[in-house]
Amino acid sequence: MTAEGMRETILALPEHIQAALALPIRNFEPRTFTGIDKIAFLGMGGSGIAGNIIRDLLPSIPVFLNKGYAAPGFLDRKTLAICISYSGNTKETLEATHTAMKKNCRLLGLASGGKMLELLVEEGRPHIALPPGHLPRTSLPFQLFSLLNFFDQINLFPLDREGILAFARALLAREPEARALAEKLKGKLVFIYGSTPSVGLRFKTQLNENAKVHAKAEVFPELNHNEVVAWQEQPPQGLAVVFLREPDERQEVRDSISFLQETIQGRADLLEIQASGQTRVEQVLSLIFLGDLASYHLALARRVDPEKTEYINTLKKIIRE
Ligand code: PA5
Repeated sequence: MTAEGMRETILALPEHIQAALALPIRNFEPRTFTGIDKIAFLGMGGSGIAGNIIRDLLPSIPVFLNKGYAAPGFLDRKTLAICISYSGNTKETLEATHTAMKKNCRLLGLASGGKMLELLVEEGRPHIALPPGHLPRTSLPFQLFSLLNFFDQINLFPLDREGILAFARALLAREPEARALAEKLKGKLVFIYGSTPSVGLRFKTQLNENAKVHAKAEVFPELNHNEVVAWQEQPPQGLAVVFLREPDERQEVRDSISFLQETIQGRADLLEIQASGQTRVEQVLSLIFLGDLASYHLALARRVDPEKTEYINTLKKIIRE
């Protein structure tokens, strides 16, 4: 993938959603996924974020995010373990997946290759083979929408396929907003404040990995109980605060945002991105799309390669050895 290739990949969102919805779920029998009382996502970085997003979309069932070697002690037959590693070779995810298998969890695996795909095929486990040739983080539409298709089939989350496709096509017209946002983020330390945790986290990690900048994400209303106090002091120079706005924010959140914006005014750059769409999936997707594109344009503005993540590779090598 080239730098321009990453932009094309982000803008191929509608095609990738369509392809994701058509990805076969191998060894899958929907009736074997009944009687599930919790979900555990096992996956790191670009292969962990789909779990965060689904946790925000699916309030009806406990969703646990496992981002480490050890799988949680409560895994059992009533747990649906979703094991995701785009490369298929991430040590933490493989270790946790072996534990989930030993604990007899109902299991769905996602990988484009590597040891994870081998294991899933050998064990005859339900799995989705992700298309190769992407980066873990650019494969998110494949991960997310193949999973939403799976959840629809096991009656945990009804998905309007045509609606989301039409929405994704219309979303592409918002690229200029992302480019303008990137211009304003150039040279800044970025704080992201929003109401949906996964969306802020995705924007932060995309800024880290694509644009190679420091960023942090905080969530309403929790930030009202800690982060806000730090604004009593003069913040560091060169700070930009991006508010991720959603149409269905509670009045309390709106009031908190107004208070913070008045407080911050003149001490840091104040920016906003608005979610669009009628449904939660659409709103979340719109903010992710804008954040992904903004991180890409910021990488170009900073003359760094959005694709390369050398330190991750170096660390994985050190850990393997
Ligand atoms: O975005 C990335 O490249 C990383 O965050 C990876 O997703 C992470 O290191 C895990 O690797 P994998 O997705 O191959 O399991």
